[in-house]
Amino acid sequence: MRIITVANQKGGVGKTTTAVTLAHGLALKHHNVLLVDLDPQGQCAPHLGMEQEPGVFDLLVAELPLRDVVRTTGRPNLWLLPGNKRTKTAETLMVIENRGVDTLQTVLGEKVNGSRLHYLILDTAPSVGGIQENALYACDLLLIPTSLDHLGLKGLTEILKTLRAVNRSSPPAMWILPTFYDEVTRESRVNLAHLRETFGDLVLPPIHRATVLRECPALGRTIFEHAPESRAAEEYATLVWEVLNGEG
Ligand SMILES: Nc1ncnc2c1ncn2[C@@H]1O[C@H](COP(=O)(O)OP(=O)(O)O)[C@@H](O)[C@H]1O
Ligand SMILES: [Mg+2]
Repeated sequence: MRIITVANQKGGVGKTTTAVTLAHGLALKHHNVLLVDLDPQGQCAPHLGMEQEPGVFDLLVAELPLRDVVRTTGRPNLWLLPGNKRTKTAETLMVIENRGVDTLQTVLGEKVNGSRLHYLILDTAPSVGGIQENALYACDLLLIPTSLDHLGLKGLTEILKTLRAVNRSSPPAMWILPTFYDEVTRESRVNLAHLRETFGDLVLPPIHRATVLRECPALGRTIFEHAPESRAAEEYATLVWEVLNGEG
């Protein structure tokens, strides 16, 4: 089983879109995938056309077994551990109780063991405070969606700082996914070039800004359902391919 954490300390850079789409893409390739929504905003459920129910809270605080808090999504091979604003309460309690940075890894590891999950995709909130650090600690691959503007790049720098602060004995593999790419805009082109100069091979092919992607959450569908022939679907299929075949 591989754990992939999707993180950037800036909101609105495409984290949830990437987590939901990657999870569905891997499931379409016949892998068993659990999408875990660690953001109190809980946008993964509506993006999949589902109710925003607790899940993460019950796992972390009520300590229910994973099988009791996981939902089927109506899509083969894809399960969801939904989150909602109670996730914030769970985080506060974790801090008060002084639970360590390995808490999430332990609960997910213990309870998932024995099942046949191939991928765990962790969608995270843009804020530090306990859960994000746990997600950085637990992952095999850190995937950082980054919009090609100043704030997106700043969020990338900040997540790298947090990763260092988490102080893992061996850092996870890391990929940067440029998002909202618009080659007509100079800022977009310059920032993509800058990312490639700085991070080289860690930078994946970009996801263009696309109206069809923006439409997905409100429809409760992934891009593979809403517009499977679109460039956006093709670009996300490339990401799925990279995860299945790449080094990360
Ligand atoms: N490549 C894209 N092109 C256009 N809109 C996008 C793209 N990626 C995401 N969006 C939209 O931008 C908004 C923020 O994306 P989201 O994935 O929720 O970001 P985050 O989880 O980082 O806050 C959502 O409305 C989403 O549908
Ligand atoms: Mg999000």
